[in-house]
Amino acid sequence: MTLPPTGLNTGSHDLPVSPALEAFMGTRWAATPLPADQRVPGYDRFPGRRARLSAAFPGERLIVPAGRLKVRANDLDYRFRPHSAYVWLTGLTGEDQADHVLVLEPTGPHGHEPVLYLHPRSPRSGGEFYRDRRYGEFWVGRRPDLDESARLTGLRVEHLADLDKLLAGPQPTTRVLAGTDPVVDEATGRPGPFALPDGELAAVLSELRLIKDEWEIGQLQLAVDHTVTGFEDVVRALPTALRHPRGERWIEGVFDLRARAEGNGTSYTTIAASGAHACVLHWIRNDGALDPNSLLLLDAGVETDTLYAADITRTLPLSGTFSPVQRQAYELVLAAQSAGIAALRPGARYRDFHRAAMRVIAEGLADWGVLRIPAEEALAEDNGLYRRYTLCGSGHMLGLDYHDCAKSRADRYLDGTLEEGMVLTVEPGLYLQPDDETLPVELRGLGIRIEDDLVITADGARLMSGALPRTVKDVESWMSTLLS
Ligand code: GLY
Ligand code: MN
Repeated sequence: MTLPPTGLNTGSHDLPVSPALEAFMGTRWAATPLPADQRVPGYDRFPGRRARLSAAFPGERLIVPAGRLKVRANDLDYRFRPHSAYVWLTGLTGEDQADHVLVLEPTGPHGHEPVLYLHPRSPRSGGEFYRDRRYGEFWVGRRPDLDESARLTGLRVEHLADLDKLLAGPQPTTRVLAGTDPVVDEATGRPGPFALPDGELAAVLSELRLIKDEWEIGQLQLAVDHTVTGFEDVVRALPTALRHPRGERWIEGVFDLRARAEGNGTSYTTIAASGAHACVLHWIRNDGALDPNSLLLLDAGVETDTLYAADITRTLPLSGTFSPVQRQAYELVLAAQSAGIAALRPGARYRDFHRAAMRVIAEGLADWGVLRIPAEEALAEDNGLYRRYTLCGSGHMLGLDYHDCAKSRADRYLDGTLEEGMVLTVEPGLYLQPDDETLPVELRGLGIRIEDDLVITADGARLMSGALPRTVKDVESWMSTLLS
């Protein structure tokens, strides 16, 4: 005899369980509590963040889901990473956060009580702990029980099953964070419980994250430091990668190994682009061979266990030495990046560093005769012809997401002003397409980007990724040391 279906996430090919086994599995397990003093990293930061969010939406219920698992096939899900706003408000970062929801319940006209709705550790009765492929402790690992989660976070914690009761009761004005929940439930095809996501909540949460506190800056520095190590690993691996028919993949693997070993993984899919592949801004196919006479554009970042991102690019000569034409193009991008970095200070417009970098690029292209109009004319907003060769903006905010705070409104970000504590990238590039007939043949197929991470300080900006060389001379001698 076997037991009837259980509602567990089991596979069609799982062997049936007998009542005798079910009874046996429920007995003689020792208690294994989490250490009583365990807390989420940065524990003392989170109440202040929730208070600032609360103050922005008095009297309204705020729902911030961690997000849902996405099925890859059958019982196999994609790896899960909780939404950055949920992480920023709770400090909870693991794959076990899938489906969890933070609710800020209004306590009156002002103030909220934050409540976490969680799927807790399964009890050692019932079959979930050893049979459930999605939540079972013996399948995917231990998760905290409700009391442990309360201690870890300092929050009131309820069972996820009780969220439905809350949502079925009296409804204050409710806002749900956009981008965390499918409008249509994948399993039923019906609208999900959070089917009306709120753009204003997403914007405010993005804007609250624009200024990083000291703890966050420490985490970002850690992400950068691990990324520097990953770049060193890649240079050391170049002789092997150059011999491999898909050397770009080899490089991706080497960097990603470091990212996974030191942190949660990569901040985004590693871009390993040799030769003309570097003219594709987000070349993530990474399936090319490495031409020893070409440049390698490596755009990669480590994400810490606390989910903070680095985002760094270096463009390296695979031979170890820049050719004259590679050097000419590289030095123009370097000069543009230096001009961009020099424009960073509190009170500067966000667009200023991009403008400063683009002025250098446009003037360089005009000097080379590539741009056949004066740089000044090309830089005018109603012209912009230089953009054919540089394609995109020169940077972005950096934090829990590599393109951080992306839901911020223009007056706080694109048309806003830099403030102390903002962290951002400066990454101008030249993308000289291999089929661009406006270019001299020797420039065609060169793709160069130099990207660094910086924090705005009281009187300027601090380069967080200065451990990686930027000048031609420094890049060549760094490579030579690592390869010797
Ligand atoms: N580092 C590439 C990007 O920011 O899109
Ligand atoms: Mn970037």
